[in-house]
Amino acid sequence: MSKKILVAVAWPYVNGPPHLGHIAGNTLPADIFARFQRMIGNDVLMVSGSDQHGTPVALKAKEENVHPREISEKYHSIWNKMNEKMGFSFDLYTKTGTENHKEVVQELFLTIKKNGFLSERNSEQPFSESLKMFMSDRYVLGTCKKCKNEARGDQCETCNITIDPKDLDNIKSAIDGSPLIFKETTHIYLELSKFQKKLKNWVEKQEHWRTSVRNHTLGMIEKGLLDRAITRDIEWGIPVPLTNYDKKRIYVWFEAVTGYLSASIEWSNSEKNNSGDKENWKTWWENPNAKHYYFQGKDNVPFHTIIWPTMLMASGNKNLPYDVAANEYLNFGGKQFSKSKKWAVWLPDFLESYDPDSLRYHLTSIMPETSDSDFTWKSYLDANNNELVATLGNFIHRVLTMTYNYFDGKTPDIEDENSESKKILEKCNNSMDKTKSFLEKREFRNALKSVMSLAQEGNKYIDFQAPWKQFKDNKNNAALTLQTALTIITNLRIIMNPFLPFSSKKLATFIGEDPNKEIKWEFKKMPPNIPLMKPIPLFKKLDDDIVEKEEAKLI
Ligand code: MF3
Ligand code: ZN
Repeated sequence: MSKKILVAVAWPYVNGPPHLGHIAGNTLPADIFARFQRMIGNDVLMVSGSDQHGTPVALKAKEENVHPREISEKYHSIWNKMNEKMGFSFDLYTKTGTENHKEVVQELFLTIKKNGFLSERNSEQPFSESLKMFMSDRYVLGTCKKCKNEARGDQCETCNITIDPKDLDNIKSAIDGSPLIFKETTHIYLELSKFQKKLKNWVEKQEHWRTSVRNHTLGMIEKGLLDRAITRDIEWGIPVPLTNYDKKRIYVWFEAVTGYLSASIEWSNSEKNNSGDKENWKTWWENPNAKHYYFQGKDNVPFHTIIWPTMLMASGNKNLPYDVAANEYLNFGGKQFSKSKKWAVWLPDFLESYDPDSLRYHLTSIMPETSDSDFTWKSYLDANNNELVATLGNFIHRVLTMTYNYFDGKTPDIEDENSESKKILEKCNNSMDKTKSFLEKREFRNALKSVMSLAQEGNKYIDFQAPWKQFKDNKNNAALTLQTALTIITNLRIIMNPFLPFSSKKLATFIGEDPNKEIKWEFKKMPPNIPLMKPIPLFKKLDDDIVEKEEAKLI
C-alpha cells in the first residue's frame, strides 16, 4: 500500500541567493529522498518556501534602503528559479508572504491560545539604542552566565541549551557590536514548560533519529524547557491577532515552522492537487500512518524537535515529525560560507558555467551527514572528472558505443545467459537493494557510493569479457556481454535517478525509453532489438584550469 510521506524542507531566509551550503544541507537530501519515495510507490508531498520575514530580511532591506517586501520578492524569485534549475521536485515551493500563510499562522496561534498554552508576560528585551530597535535573540551576543563562553541570545552551544538573552552578561549587538540595554515590553509566551514530560516521552521513543539529533534534543529537555516569547517588537512579519498588539509581530520561528502546514494547505487548494479533494492535506497531517521527514541544518534542530512539536501538540491532533534529518555544515575551502566576507559559491553563478547533475553528484558525495565537510573547486573537479566521467559516464559510453557499432544501432538480438552474466546481474540486483536500504535510512552518501560501485563492477565486467575481442572470435559472445551490460545500464538509469535526475532522463532517451514515464524501483532487463541513439557522452569533462579560474574570482 502506498504511504503518505511529507518531505518538509527548511524555509530559507531570502536575504540573498542560495549558496552551495544551503543545497548540500537541506534541499538536495530532501529531493533525493522525495524522488526515491515516489519511485517506490509512495504518495509524497514535498513542500517549502521562502522565509520572507524576520530580522535577516529586514536588515538586508535597511542596508539597501528598500522595503523588506522588495528584497524578499527579488530573492524569492531567484530561489524559485534555482530550485527549478537544480531539478528540485517540490510539489509546492511558496513563500511566507501569502495570505494563506498569514491565515494559517494566526489561526494556529489562536487555537493554541484557546487551548490554554499561551500567556502574556512583561519582560525586558534587548534593545539597540544605535539602531533604535529591539534585537531578535540571534543578533544578541554575550557571555553565557553559566559557562562564561561567548554565546548567541537564542542558544549557548557550549552548554547545549536554548537560552534567553537574560542568560547572558555584557550583551552587545551582533550587527554593529554596540552595547545593548534591556527595555521593558509585553509579549505572548508559548508555555513550553507544560510540555516538558510529554516531549521527553516522545523524543525517547524516536530511536530511528540520528544519535546527534536525539541526544542534543534530550539534553535540552532534561535541562528544563523555558517558556518562550513568540511575539516581537518588529514591524516586518505577521500581525498578532490580538488587540493592543498592532506594533508587534509573531516571532519568525513560530511563524516559519507553521509554513510546513500552510504550504500543504495551499497545495491542497491549488490546481496542483489533482485528487479533487481540497481537504487532501489532512491525509498527510491528520493521519497516524503518514510519515513526516524534515530536512535542515543543525542550528535548526531545537525548532523542529522541540518548538514545532510543542506547537503541534498544543494545537490538537496533527502529525508530529517522524524524522528530523539535521545535517552538519558544508564548509568552503576549510572555512564557513560567509555572505559578509564574500566567501561563498553562489548557486546562480555556479549554474552559469556548470551542470546541475555534476553538482548534485559532488554535493551528495560530500554531504555533511554526520560531520562538517568541505567543498573546494579541486574536489569538485576531481569528483566530476575522476568519478562521474571516468567511472559512470565511461561505462555507459563504451557499452553504448560498442553496441551501436557492432549491432547496427540496436540492442543485440539475444536473450541468453551464462554463469558470468548471471553473476554480474545478481550483483546488479544486490546493488539496487543496497542503494534502496541506504536511501530508506537517509544515508545518502552511502547510497550514492553503492550506485557508483555498480558502475565499477560494470567496467570490470567489460574489461574482463573484452567484447571487442569477442566480436572478432564469436559474435554471440559479444552480444551476450553487451546485452548484459545494457541491462546494468538500464538499472543504473533507475537507481541514479534520485541523485542525477537530468542525466537519468537523458540516458533514457539514449536507450529507447520514454524519459517522462514514471520510473519504478524495480530490476529490469534490456529487451533485444531496441533502437539506440547515436551515442554521445552523458557527462562533460571539465578543464583543470577551472580551479585557478574560480579561485581567482574569490579575491
Ligand atoms: N528562515 C529560518 C532560518 O533559515 C527558519 C528556517 S526553518 C523553518 O533559520 F522551520 F522555519 F522552516
Ligand atoms: Zn553556556
